Amino acid sequence: MFLFRQGLVKRHPSLIPLSLDHHDALVIAQGLILGRSRSPRSKWPTDRRAQVDRVVDFFKRTLLAHFDTEDAYVFPVVMERMPDRAALIAELRHDHEQLRNLISDLERAPATDLDTRLPALGRLVEAHIRKEERVLFQAMQSELDAAELDHIGAKLTARGRARENCRIG
Ligand SMILES: [Fe+2]
Repeated sequence: MFLFRQGLVKRHPSLIPLSLDHHDALVIAQGLILGRSRSPRSKWPTDRRAQVDRVVDFFKRTLLAHFDTEDAYVFPVVMERMPDRAALIAELRHDHEQLRNLISDLERAPATDLDTRLPALGRLVEAHIRKEERVLFQAMQSELDAAELDHIGAKLTARGRARENCRIG
């Protein structure tokens, strides 16, 4: 939990589910950039082709829904209530699109040029998450009021429940 452990982040409870996903994504990004895990106990593979399977799996299980949630419930509130952040939101939406495309490319051609593509993907994930955590979420916490943040939190909780039900059904 290094985002929290380093004391970099004091997160509003409504945004914590997204920050937890960010933490997991940063761990994977490190594995993609370094080609190995920092933790000796990690099951992160050193084989690049195996890393492709792990990252595609993580995107499908977690990150694609995470992007959809931010696109649907977080970014529109920021655009409406903090219009001076429009350029930041455009950049973050562009990152989401680029990341979705890179993952599709990996699914289509999972064996070529991995020593270049995987670190590049990791760096993009890392830079994107740093922008959301350090710039967007910090700005939301200082510029939105408690009721607005709670409203976002309620939407995220409802969406999380719907996803769980889908999984069970
Ligand atoms: Fe995010």
